[in-house]
Amino acid sequence: MISKKMEKALNGQVNKEMYSAYLYMAMSSYSDGMGLKGFANWLMAQYHEEMLHAMKIYEYITRQGGRARVLAIKEPPADFGTPLNMFKKVLEHEKFVTRSINDLVDLALAEKDHATHIFLQWYVTEQVEEEENDNDIIARLEMVGNSKDGLFMVDKDLAARQTTVPTDFSKGIESAMKAAGE
Ligand code: FEO
Repeated sequence: MISKKMEKALNGQVNKEMYSAYLYMAMSSYSDGMGLKGFANWLMAQYHEEMLHAMKIYEYITRQGGRARVLAIKEPPADFGTPLNMFKKVLEHEKFVTRSINDLVDLALAEKDHATHIFLQWYVTEQVEEEENDNDIIARLEMVGNSKDGLFMVDKDLAARQTTVPTDFSKGIESAMKAAGE
């Protein structure tokens, strides 16, 4: 079981992950509008990742006898500037999520909630990967500068990203993740 305080904090994290999904969907649409299909693809794959992040916590709250809440999701911006500016915003957002995960870990430690502490380790590792990916894309965009050819190449690379995470959660997250080899 988890404390009421932990339940509230985890529900807050579900909402942040849902907002992340919403934000990346908005960025995907914005990229489509600029004709950058590869960016749109990459960001939509990220949308699916974020939905998994949210649903994994949602399921954990329920499994621990808590009540998963479906809170209002804030409307994300619709305009993100240049592709470089957009990815700087992605990184900034992921740093915010990392801080939020770290706060949850601190709470789990303070409450001696070992189960939640172990559960959160997956997110700690995931955030390292997310920030690393974003830094990599930012570095490539900085390298290409104003070159249209360079941007075309980055777009082509981002078009190769596949959605590997499960998107059907009807049989539970853990079994869906196992089936998807996650
Ligand atoms: Fe779920 Fe991108 O943090």
